[in-house]
Amino acid sequence: MAVRKSRSDRKSTRRPSSRTGLRVKTQRVSIIGLGYVGLSTAVCFANRGLRVHGVEIDRRKCDLISGGKSPIHEQDIDSYLSDCIRDGSLSCTSDIREAVLNSEITFLTVGTPSKPDGGIDLTYVEAAAREVGRILAEKKTYHLVVVKSTVVPGTTAGIVKDSLEMGSKKLFPKDFGLCFNPEFLREGTAIHDTLRPDALVIGAEDERSSETLLNLYKSFYGVDRVPDTLVTKIPNAEFVKYSVNTFRATQLSFLNSLANLCEKIPSADVSEVTKGLSVVTKIDSRYLRAGFGYGGSCLPKDLRALTALFQRLDVDSSLLLSVAEINQKQPLRAVEIAKQLVGDLRANRIAVLGLAFKAGTDDIRESVGVRIVVELLSLGARVNVYDPQALENAKHVFESSVEFAQSTKSCLRGAQCCIVATDWEEFRKIPPSIFKNEMRNPIIIDGCHVLDSKAFESSGVFVYEIGRNSGDQALRSTISPMIGNSLV
Ligand SMILES: NC(=O)c1ccc[n+]([C@@H]2O[C@H](COP(=O)([O-])OP(=O)(O)OC[C@H]3O[C@@H](n4cnc5c(N)ncnc54)[C@H](O)[C@@H]3O)[C@@H](O)[C@H]2O)c1
Repeated sequence: MAVRKSRSDRKSTRRPSSRTGLRVKTQRVSIIGLGYVGLSTAVCFANRGLRVHGVEIDRRKCDLISGGKSPIHEQDIDSYLSDCIRDGSLSCTSDIREAVLNSEITFLTVGTPSKPDGGIDLTYVEAAAREVGRILAEKKTYHLVVVKSTVVPGTTAGIVKDSLEMGSKKLFPKDFGLCFNPEFLREGTAIHDTLRPDALVIGAEDERSSETLLNLYKSFYGVDRVPDTLVTKIPNAEFVKYSVNTFRATQLSFLNSLANLCEKIPSADVSEVTKGLSVVTKIDSRYLRAGFGYGGSCLPKDLRALTALFQRLDVDSSLLLSVAEINQKQPLRAVEIAKQLVGDLRANRIAVLGLAFKAGTDDIRESVGVRIVVELLSLGARVNVYDPQALENAKHVFESSVEFAQSTKSCLRGAQCCIVATDWEEFRKIPPSIFKNEMRNPIIIDGCHVLDSKAFESSGVFVYEIGRNSGDQALRSTISPMIGNSLV
């Protein structure tokens, strides 16, 4: 295992290639699966002068991408995509054969969802590897396959290698290369994270594979600017990805438990505690934010997949089970607090601001906002929802069971209580007067720490911040006049 230190200036804010002249010697790659990871990788590679052949089986997505329009919301992705479609450095096709034959390196970025039992569903990875294998049979030159999808330890050197060998009738590592190269981008900052990752991890069993991939990254980042890189065996690299995500989930469940406790201790505030925790332990504060729990397409599913692996191999999984259980309950805190503040929720109108699992994305997979709405509806509440980017995705989930508002203002109209479930910048800027003028009761439950509760309270708007003890007295005196002293 070796960590190669980068000589780059990490604070560099240089823009990608085509705009700064930092283009690289043309290398040809194919990327199978243009979702959040595949498309972000594709546009960044193409903008730095690589020739990228994207493959996407979803026709709608493929047509949009070919027309220069992103099927997902990500900061900067539209301009990057339209640039590289226009100059021909990126093309999208559903013809995997054409893409693989016209490239030297193939990245697999297809989804790895959960099976009903929580274990990892490798159907897409296996199908893609089998197809790539069949095409490798036709290739006369060396080809490297890189798994970027998150897969449980043992998958790349097992199912993926076997599928490639079976399809191609060739042998690894003699006839083709194979790496596992986990992706750490965060939705909402995917382009930034791809251009300036904290680190690279390359899992490889042979030097030719790891050197081929490293050379690609040298071209992409510049020889002197390759991020710190860990080169290790494939299963270790697979473990690194799972350990990072389950560690983050564990931190968050720990912090959310602490937040629930802080609420019971006079003057305690989890945000302050978190600052101290970060300063003393040097844990990255980006991943220390208490709230209604974690969601998204990665943390919950990766925790389930690792737990299933622990159980399959008969290793004690009680820590991971507790992390998941705490996270399962945490969004319900929003509803419990709403009941405490408003009383019976039946027929009451509740506004939910934020359905995306985090700011900066339209992704609602396992989002806490969605879970909160489902719970409110099950208790008979009438629910208004608003999200700056995720409404279209949410319409497929809620259809006509909620009111879809087109602005924060209309979402708040007539509501007895508002729950803030996503940390969108737009929500930070809502002045107290909007809540006061539009809501029936200006009561807010802020799970994202986006509102200045003290400033709001002085304007007569009550903000219940997760993890902050505002004191029973303050709570009673602010709320009681609004709801006719029904506060328990
Ligand atoms: N989303 C993230 O933030 C993130 C971050 C790091 C790692 N990951 C991992 O990366 C992988 C991809 O995640 P995602 O969020 O981009 O998934 P996604 O569901 O957004 O995208 C996957 C895409 O692959 C396409 N696809 C499936 N089979 C295909 C095939 N045979 N040929 C061509 N296209 C095919 C699907 O149509 C889909 O568009 C997962 O393993 C995930 O765990 C995701």
